Amino acid sequence: MIASTLARNASPARLDLFDTFEGVPSIAVAERDYCSPGSFSNTSLKRVKKRLSEHLPRCRFYAGLIPDTFAQVREDAQYSLVNIDVDLYPTNRACCEWFWPRMVPGGVMLFNDYGFYPYRHSTRRAVDEFFAEIDEQSLVLPNGQALVIKATAANVTIPPLAAQGDSIIAADSLFTPLDD
Ligand SMILES: C[S@@+](CC[C@H](N)C(=O)[O-])C[C@H]1O[C@@H](n2cnc3c(N)ncnc32)[C@H](O)[C@@H]1O
Repeated sequence: MIASTLARNASPARLDLFDTFEGVPSIAVAERDYCSPGSFSNTSLKRVKKRLSEHLPRCRFYAGLIPDTFAQVREDAQYSLVNIDVDLYPTNRACCEWFWPRMVPGGVMLFNDYGFYPYRHSTRRAVDEFFAEIDEQSLVLPNGQALVIKATAANVTIPPLAAQGDSIIAADSLFTPLDD
């Protein structure tokens, strides 16, 4: 969908795609990550490339283990949108550490599943820990994603949850504290 939108708008933006492309790696711990080694293995790099066949010129594929594959990315890489859907605690944490310094001002990081109870020890823990350490705040969306905006020079600040409006607070009330 992102590739199609970029194409429709004649955007020159490129897509960097990171995954094992062969399922969840062996570092997964079922009780923590809500998925096990081998989950989502019904795929392959070949199938994903076929699916994106119209868009291959703008795609770069980094097949293998995050964070190892980050070493293959050019040093000056910068990102305006990073969509993270990696389930595991250590992978979410590694993505925070690697992508955040590479976000352009105003860039957006999105974390799938952040708000869903089964991901409280993986996605939510990694996001909460990392952004608390650097004193940044995530915004919780009603669909369970967490969104973090890299501040611009003029400083985009995100108001505290209590001031974010009813729909956000309603979403947040679905969450269970991390230590539950
Ligand atoms: C819920 S699936 C998402 C699949 C697909 N990337 C998407 O966004 O629709 C979670 C994916 O995270 C990937 N993943 C988790 N930890 C990883 C790691 N350390 N390195 C590479 N891929 C990882 C798994 O291979 C799996 O495909």
